[in-house]
Amino acid sequence: MDISALKAKLGELEAEATRAISEAKSADAIRSAETRLTKEPIAEALAALKTLPGEQRGEAGKTINATKERLKELFAAGLAGLREKAVAADQAQAGAFDPTLPGPVTARGALHPVTIVQWEVERVLSGLGFTVVGGPEMETDFHNFEALNIPATHPARDMMDTFWLDNGWLLRTHTSPCQVRAMRQFGAPLRVCAPGRCFRYETIDASHENTFFQVEGLMIDRNISISHLIAVMRMLLREVFQRDVKVRLRPGFFPFVEPGFELDMSCEICGGKGCATCKQSGWVEILPCGMVHPNVLRFGNIDPREFTGFAFGLGLTRLAMMKFGVGDIRVLNSGDLRGIAPAGRLAGETIVERVGARA
Ligand code: DAH
Repeated sequence: MDISALKAKLGELEAEATRAISEAKSADAIRSAETRLTKEPIAEALAALKTLPGEQRGEAGKTINATKERLKELFAAGLAGLREKAVAADQAQAGAFDPTLPGPVTARGALHPVTIVQWEVERVLSGLGFTVVGGPEMETDFHNFEALNIPATHPARDMMDTFWLDNGWLLRTHTSPCQVRAMRQFGAPLRVCAPGRCFRYETIDASHENTFFQVEGLMIDRNISISHLIAVMRMLLREVFQRDVKVRLRPGFFPFVEPGFELDMSCEICGGKGCATCKQSGWVEILPCGMVHPNVLRFGNIDPREFTGFAFGLGLTRLAMMKFGVGDIRVLNSGDLRGIAPAGRLAGETIVERVGARA
């Protein structure tokens, strides 16, 4: 090789480096081009020095060094250029982003209608000095029946067929067992309410479900009478519906109260005209109640000669249906939001707002 051939080769190397840099789409591409076009080719050029005539070697060496420097600069500039391009692209994108545009709208969660009425009832009753208590959904025969004056042979058990468990316990058919537990735990005088889930072996239709919610109320003191019962029931419904609701009182039979009543309210679904929910009667049984039976007081370790009391079992699920105009009970246990939260009915109230109001 002679010096002009060497110079031509080095010139080509520079040209190729320039081309590679202009085509490179990433820093990695530039770095690998740098390795490919500097290391070996320069080493080869240096090795070729030996083949040149002595007087040309000095000039050739200088040219090689200059090329090496030039390649280094070219690649460094290529990398810097790429970085600048990326920053410019970022800035262009940032300019296109409008922070004043509204964000994507996500549906807000709301409380279940039954929870809303439950909390409402708790609020009203707490205001009247009732303590909110709970109780197990899996109950003993004693608490669910026996202590409520429903012995094993009593025909009232037929109305409350339920799911029996292998251990002899059962899924509670009502919240009334909480009465017994509260009396035994706290004694008299006593004011408690117990909301919760109940179960029955029911044929399901528009107004019957195998799983539903009730709230039990119990007030025991000296000289408690039916007038206390009616006053509290009226106030409760008025507060929940935020207006006077039409009610009627009929005699009703429940083994754990004497006398016992059925408190009906005018059907809010049809306005009292008659529909599937109220079985065409215009009235909905919503508040069975009565004066606590002396036997039940005794089971609760309370002396019926000293204390009297009233009790009620409010159907929370039915109340929610009335309040929110849900015509079919099955909707409330389903996950279908079109039925549970019909447009506007829940007024968009969120869990956060509700919890906040409760705190
Ligand atoms: N436990 C009854 C039921 O589920 C409802 C009931 C009636 C509760 C009268 C009461 C009451 O406390 O006094 O059918």
